[in-house]
Amino acid sequence: MDLGLKGQVALVTGGSKGIGKAVARGLAQEGVRVAICARSKASLEEAAQELAKATGSEVFGVAGDLTRPDDVQRIVDAAASRFGRIDVLVNNAGAAPGGEILDLTEEDWQKALQLKFMGYVRCIKAVIPHMLRQGGGRQRRRGPEARRAQHSARTDLHARGSRERGRVRGLAPRELHERCDHHARRRAAEGIARLTAA
Ligand SMILES: NC(=O)c1ccc[n+]([C@@H]2O[C@H](COP(=O)([O-])OP(=O)(O)OC[C@H]3O[C@@H](n4cnc5c(N)ncnc54)[C@H](OP(=O)(O)O)[C@@H]3O)[C@@H](O)[C@H]2O)c1
Repeated sequence: MDLGLKGQVALVTGGSKGIGKAVARGLAQEGVRVAICARSKASLEEAAQELAKATGSEVFGVAGDLTRPDDVQRIVDAAASRFGRIDVLVNNAGAAPGGEILDLTEEDWQKALQLKFMGYVRCIKAVIPHMLRQGGGRQRRRGPEARRAQHSARTDLHARGSRERGRVRGLAPRELHERCDHHARRRAAEGIARLTAA
């Protein structure tokens, strides 16, 4: 597949495993240079090496915790400094807590919001200045948690003048999650790559 993404740069949060890793692989197969982030340095480096070897594309792992604002800025700056730009942000990291509502504590929800809402907001805020400097960019959000952040990102990118271009898309892959086998993840990655190219 040639989706016209060759040479672009993507940052995939939570790219060390699961859907994020499949998305990073799909983009790297298209010739995109990919930065992936996660907390565990060991699994991140392993994933970066595996994806680079499998795709022939440059894959860069940068460790950090998206619940920490300083880490987010450091991750985004490291990706931009390594590749010179960021064209695509895939906000994917983490997963909201599973379980019955009566069993989930206030702390469970606070933790989930710190990552799945504030973590995504922080990434968007840190990436937008790079995209504006370049004159455009695309953002992908996974799951429903950061719909509001996505709306603000879109408004911000578009409000900053006609010379700057930006696209923001959201995906809620419930059906894929329920059938999250290898083939479903590959199709999810291909779907995101197609949307990124659109
Ligand atoms: N809306 C839906 O219907 C739906 C369905 C399925 C999935 N999803 C979404 O799809 C995404 C991926 O799901 P998955 O099943 O592939 O998850 P997963 O296999 O658990 O992978 C999560 C990734 O995020 C990283 N991560 C977790 N906490 C982090 C933190 N605080 N800072 C930085 N990185 C962190 C993990 O690495 P470390 O542990 O090393 O940090 C890992 O790379 C999630 O956003 C999930 O909510 C949505």
